[in-house]
Amino acid sequence: MKFESEVVHAGDRKRNQGKMVPSTTPIHLGTTYFYDSAATLDRVLGDEEEGFSYARYASPTNVALEELCSILERGHGALATASGMSAVQIAFQAALIDRPHAVLASNSVYGATIGLLDKIFAPFDVQVAYVDICDITAVEKAIGKRQPGCIFIESVSNPLLRVGNIKKLAALARSIGAVLIVDNTFATPMLVRPLELGANIVVHSATKYLAGHGDVLGGVVVSDKALHDSVRMLSRLAGPVLGPFESYLTMRGIKTLALRYHRQCQNALRLAEWLATHPKVDRVYYCSGPDHPDACNIKECFAPGLFGAILSFEIKGANKESILAFMDRLKMVVPGTSLGDVHTLLLYPLIASHRNISPKMRERMGIRENLVRVAAGIEAVEDIVADLDQAFRSV
Ligand SMILES: Cc1ncc(COP(=O)(O)O)c(C=O)c1O
Repeated sequence: MKFESEVVHAGDRKRNQGKMVPSTTPIHLGTTYFYDSAATLDRVLGDEEEGFSYARYASPTNVALEELCSILERGHGALATASGMSAVQIAFQAALIDRPHAVLASNSVYGATIGLLDKIFAPFDVQVAYVDICDITAVEKAIGKRQPGCIFIESVSNPLLRVGNIKKLAALARSIGAVLIVDNTFATPMLVRPLELGANIVVHSATKYLAGHGDVLGGVVVSDKALHDSVRMLSRLAGPVLGPFESYLTMRGIKTLALRYHRQCQNALRLAEWLATHPKVDRVYYCSGPDHPDACNIKECFAPGLFGAILSFEIKGANKESILAFMDRLKMVVPGTSLGDVHTLLLYPLIASHRNISPKMRERMGIRENLVRVAAGIEAVEDIVADLDQAFRSV
């Protein structure tokens, strides 16, 4: 099946459910299961027979969602978690169980991921180092020096939309027996499939494009065969599983992922083109165009014809005060902190994703005071343009 059909059908309508098979997977709220005999329950609990026993181990709504995500990301198996951050945490733990307790992470990952590494993993004697993953020579050097058990990147960085070469990074990780984890939240499996490019684990904040409507907090870990057992073992023991209602909503959301994401990418491209000629815009960051610093990696990793649904731009001469005024003037675009929803969202990194980063560090990262990020929604692009245009009058 093609991706557009997989999102609609995968995971649903399991044949082993008896005579009545619902066409769409329902919300299964039960936490415990009983069988025709205690002997069957004994076999299920002993993993000698397939079946559900307790919701922390597995539950039918989650299993359907997990099968769907695993198919979309071309993994061996998946785990649905309570948030994107719990997916990231499980991925790190699964990677480091049997490997050196050292992580080499991209220096432009989501702030909470940096917090998780620095404030939770580092105190448990995990060595953490950061590197520019678009600079392969710097990555090679850092690998030689640190011998990490795991390398962590985002397929598209936030908010400057840099793209590393997943194939090369996966080969480097493999050469030292390390695991490559890719946070694929920004890209979705419609744009990038890191496991096909050699990564070992993919994580998502399902809160974003997968669920897609701004009403679910969730995450997914999709892994290759070697790591899937560790991921499930960690989940059984630590229990950060997604609730069945959120699982249902995520699965429902994914059914329209291909339609939504295609439209969001088209809108983002149109917005990037329009902003590039706007007199109040200094610079636009978007993944289209041969002048993107990672154009070769984009060509190698992205699905043809799509460049993602997120763009950033710098407003000429703007400072914090004028950007806040710009945000207050927006009538339809939502000035929020997330991305991936059906409605267009505008984020100001300085007060949101990069709030806790020092001005000096932000400067070094290239994130200026006048930079805003837009996650295009599915509205008519003319309405998004009109709204941004009228808001520009305030700056
Ligand atoms: C790239 C990325 N990864 C992970 C997360 C964490 O996801 P959640 O908020 O669902 O825990 C986010 C949240 O914004 C994100 O943008």
